Amino acid sequence: MEIKRICVLGAGIMGAGISQVAAEAGFEVTMRDIEERFVENGMKIIRKNLERAVSKGKMDTAAMDAVLSRLRGTTELKSAVEGADLVIEAVIEIMDLKKKVYAELEELCAPGTIFASNTSGLSITEMASATKRAGSFIGMHFFNPVPVMRLVELIRGFTTSDETFEVCRAFVEKLGKKPVEINEAPGFAVNRILCPMINEAIFALAEGVASAQAIDESMVLGANHPIGPLALADMVGLDTLLHVMDGLQKEMGDDKYRPAPLLRKMVRAGYLGRKNGKGFFQYDK
Ligand code: 3HC
Repeated sequence: MEIKRICVLGAGIMGAGISQVAAEAGFEVTMRDIEERFVENGMKIIRKNLERAVSKGKMDTAAMDAVLSRLRGTTELKSAVEGADLVIEAVIEIMDLKKKVYAELEELCAPGTIFASNTSGLSITEMASATKRAGSFIGMHFFNPVPVMRLVELIRGFTTSDETFEVCRAFVEKLGKKPVEINEAPGFAVNRILCPMINEAIFALAEGVASAQAIDESMVLGANHPIGPLALADMVGLDTLLHVMDGLQKEMGDDKYRPAPLLRKMVRAGYLGRKNGKGFFQYDK
C-alpha cells in the first residue's frame, strides 16, 4: 500500500505544521477542524510559513502556489476523510474526546485507511480500541515546529501490524523526516525525558532558584540547548505540557512526574504560552 491522499484532523500548531510538510512533499491534504475560524487560523499559519520561505529565497511563488493547491481546509468530516489513505489526528489531548473522534472515523472511513495519532504520549492501544482496525492504528508523533524538527516518533501500539508500521515509515521518510521506532509507553521517548526537565525548570522558578531569564540563559549557555526550558514550555503550550505531565504521573503511578503547581496555576489563569501571547514570557499576538 502507498499513501497518496491524507487527512489531518486539527488545524492547531501541530495540525497545520503536519499539513504543510505533507503538502510540500507532494501529498494531497485535507485539513479539518470543527470550526471555520480554527481552519482559517491553520491556513494562516501555513501561508505565513510559506511566505517566509519565499521571502528568504528558499521557495519560489510557483512552488508556494503548488503547495497551497494541494491543501484544502474544511469543517466537514465526511468529505475530509473521503478517499484518504491515512488520517492523522492532531486534536486536543483528551482521551475520551479522541476515542469519540475515532469511533466516528471508523464509521466514515474505508477499511484500508490507516489511523495515526499525533498524541504527545497517550496510549495508542486505548485509542485503537475505539475502532475495528487495531492493526491499522499507529502513533505518529511530530515535534514543534513541525516544518523545522526532523524527528517523528513512530509508535507501535499493542496491535499495530508490521505492514502499517512499514507503510508509515515510508510516508515519514517521504516527508524528509527521520522516523524512530518506539514501543508504546507513557510519553514515548522524547516527552518522557524532555517534559520532566521542563517541569523541573518550573519548580526551580517557583522556588526562587533564579529568574525565568536566568534559568533559560543557564540551560542555553550551560547545556547548549537551542532555547531555554521555559521558552520551550511557551512554545509547546503550557496546556499541552500539563496534559503530558498529568498523563505521565497517572500512567506511571510515580510522583516524580507530578506537574509543578505553578504550571497548573498558569494554565488555570489562561496562560498558554506563545499561542495566546502569555506564558513565562510575553509575545506579540
Ligand atoms: N515554523 C516554521 N519555521 C520556523 C518556525 C516555525 N514556528 N520557527 C522557526 N522556524 C525556522 C526559521 O524560519 C528558520 O529557518 P531558516 O533556517 O530556513 O532561516 C529556522 O527555523 C531557525 O529559526 P530562527 O533563526 O528564527 O530561530 P532559532 O535559531 O532559535 O531556531 C528553533 C528556532 C529551531 C525552533 C529552535 O529554537 C529550537 O530548536 N528550539 C527547540 C525546539 C524543540 O525542542 N522542539 C520540541 C518540542 S517538544 C514537542 O514538540 C513534543 C510535543 O508533543 C510536546
